[in-house]
Amino acid sequence: MKKKIALITGITGQDGSYLTEILLGKDYEVHGIIRRSSSFNTGRIDHLYNNPDILNKKLFLHYGDVTDTSNLNRLIEKTQPDEIYNLAAQSHVKVSFEIPEYTAEVDAIGTLRFLDAIRETGIRTKFYQASTSELFGKVQEIPQDEKTPFYPRSPYGAAKIYGYWIVINYREAYNLFACNGILFNHESPRRGETFVTRKITRAVSRILLGKQSKLYLGNLNAKRDWGYAPEFCEGMWLMLQQKNPEDFVLATGETHTVREFTDLTFKELGIELEWKGKEQDEKGLIKKISECAIVGDKKNIIPKIGDVVVEVDKGYYRPTEVDILIGNSAKAKEKLGWQTKTKFNELVKIMIESDYRKVLKRGY
Ligand code: NAP
Ligand code: GDD
Repeated sequence: MKKKIALITGITGQDGSYLTEILLGKDYEVHGIIRRSSSFNTGRIDHLYNNPDILNKKLFLHYGDVTDTSNLNRLIEKTQPDEIYNLAAQSHVKVSFEIPEYTAEVDAIGTLRFLDAIRETGIRTKFYQASTSELFGKVQEIPQDEKTPFYPRSPYGAAKIYGYWIVINYREAYNLFACNGILFNHESPRRGETFVTRKITRAVSRILLGKQSKLYLGNLNAKRDWGYAPEFCEGMWLMLQQKNPEDFVLATGETHTVREFTDLTFKELGIELEWKGKEQDEKGLIKKISECAIVGDKKNIIPKIGDVVVEVDKGYYRPTEVDILIGNSAKAKEKLGWQTKTKFNELVKIMIESDYRKVLKRGY
């Protein structure tokens, strides 16, 4: 039987790397679009890229950019994909306030370029769009599902809402098999270092090993529905295996504050924090130090009881914030048989263990 061919944008990102592993595991031929960069940007897929049994046999990389229409048309013609996963994005919400136009160019018009290339070339393919819980923004109901009205709160959210609707429009107008995955936050040891979970697990590792003294955060009260990224990437694939194209929410159904994530990260390394002060003056201090499996002897911990290890820096606040996200993925459970397995505590443990060992090994 002929191998299925997938084309992935954003293959060098967190989700792109996991999705590639999943598709290779299902015997797909995978084509990925990578951006030209002045330094290496394939770190997350190097284990595949450096494998001579995989590179240019099962996995093919092509230079490209979702802001370049002719490049996308050419790559679609050349690779003739059965499935396209559009994961490329300027994906940082705070950064989108600094570069709103570029964010729209990539996240909104980039999606249109792809859909239009499919229409123009006339190839029969299935299209997955990386939509987001950021569409719910200032939430109109709790929890959020496929029917919850949207209220985006950032240039990123506004750009992604265009992507969401243009997928639906092309599906209805031209009968394309195109789906939106409305995914809530999903994290992993491969998460970019400036997203809050990874920023916390890296910083806490560095603080305990004496490489940095404090972790500076923005809004500690923001609540997110955080899941484990590889499980969400499996959900993307499941959406494209359905008979009919539909949109799905993927979420864990639990929500936690940034403060809780921070507390638990320290706790995994044997540190109990206490919080003092309010809002911008809030600080996290070390209350107790215990032995723990990851660190071993507590003498290996550099900071002392009473040290301030977390502070608020309002430079990390957003002009408009999404206060709470919590998703209901009952539809995905019913129709895709998809649900999360990794609980919040396990996710924190996976991430802190990975970062602690990395900092210990590399020394930074
Ligand atoms: P990520 O780690 O930031 O990866 C983004 C990817 O897009 C990278 O490969 C990046 O390339 C690529 N990219 C950026 N601009 C591009 C351009 N102009 N042309 C081509 N490629 C470009 O993001 P992620 O966490 O894997 O998320 C994947 C997708 O899901 C994104 O669309 C994101 O908005 C969406 N999403 C993510 C979450 C989440 O919690 N992770 C939740 C909902 C939706 P470089 O490596 O060269 O920078
Ligand atoms: N990044 C960051 N850095 N966020 C902080 C910080 C900080 O120092 N301090 C507090 N936060 C708060 C943010 O204000 C936000 O409320 C929350 O932590 C999560 O921020 P991020 O990890 O940057 O993720 P996000 O929720 O804004 O966006 C991510 O999830 C979306 C899905 O809901 C990204 O992956 C988006 O691409 C994705 O669409």
